[in-house]
Amino acid sequence: MTPALELRNLSKTYQLRQSGGFFARTVDHLAVNNVSLTLPRNQILGLVGESGSGKTTTGMMAMRLVEPSAGQIFVDGTDITALGHAALKPYRRKMQVVFQDSYSALDPMMTLAQIVAEPLHIHGLGSVADQTAQALDMLVKTGLDRTYGNRYPHELSGGQRQRVAIARALILRPSVLVADEPTSALDVSVKAQIINLLLDLQAEMGLSILFISHDLSVVRSLTDKVAVMFQGRIVEEAATETIFTDARHPYTRSLLDAIPVLNPRARRPRTFLTRAQIEAATPRLSGQDGVPELHEIAPGHRLEAIR
Ligand SMILES: Nc1ncnc2c1ncn2[C@@H]1O[C@H](COP(=O)(O)OP(=O)(O)OP(=O)(O)O)[C@@H](O)[C@H]1O
Ligand SMILES: [Mg+2]
Repeated sequence: MTPALELRNLSKTYQLRQSGGFFARTVDHLAVNNVSLTLPRNQILGLVGESGSGKTTTGMMAMRLVEPSAGQIFVDGTDITALGHAALKPYRRKMQVVFQDSYSALDPMMTLAQIVAEPLHIHGLGSVADQTAQALDMLVKTGLDRTYGNRYPHELSGGQRQRVAIARALILRPSVLVADEPTSALDVSVKAQIINLLLDLQAEMGLSILFISHDLSVVRSLTDKVAVMFQGRIVEEAATETIFTDARHPYTRSLLDAIPVLNPRARRPRTFLTRAQIEAATPRLSGQDGVPELHEIAPGHRLEAIR
């Protein structure tokens, strides 16, 4: 079956201005390096890795919100990499994003019904009455009853605002949702509610989700497979259980070391590699040359060569 989203050899180079010295000069910063990922329909793919490893840049490129420097993006089998504004519009409907602080973008002067209905309005879908009815239904789907339609963002808790952001993202019935740290601003019980909500909606609406997170326990409970990013590259990818029980890349192992173990009898052997040890085991790269290949070491388990 055609995947909902496929990224092929995506890279992003940012030109950074270097201060200091007499002449201003720019240096290239390779934020994402040759990333290939497949998000099958109705699945949740976790994207994990340290801060600055390129997760958000990858998610933004997938949605054409950041232009790739190289590579291709396929949505439902169509190459959207080079589509212009008009041709891209139907694909914009199919792809939505929820951020950690999506609610900061909620217009404080609009009611929640107006906020959730706005994408329908922007795309000219249905009458105003239809749009409002759909928005109220979507609020109910996200666990807020219809009376919330007349409320304003400042009346809500953080978890409720994130529900509104999710309702707004899903009102166009997208096939792909990029969820970039959608729960990291929430406390534990609310986080669990939002995760359950995403799972329910995913099952109900047939959604495919690229789930970016630092929270490995959430990733473990939510995702079907996991890709691990390190310094702009995918270094390991496998089914979620494989990542958590049989990780092979030193960087993946060091990420897992950081998960607290509640039951002392279930304690894993930990590696506690230093950063220098991880980097020593990882191919050193200069510029665009020598992009390491991922090798399939078992069905569905891809691993970058370790030195
Ligand atoms: N607009 C930009 N201009 C220049 N550099 C950028 C820009 N956006 C991101 N970067 C750089 O690209 C790299 C990857 O950033 P990105 O935000 O994708 O990382 P991340 O994995 O999402 O990190 P975090 O976990 O902190 O959210 C970083 O080195 C970052 O400084
Ligand atoms: Mg990020």
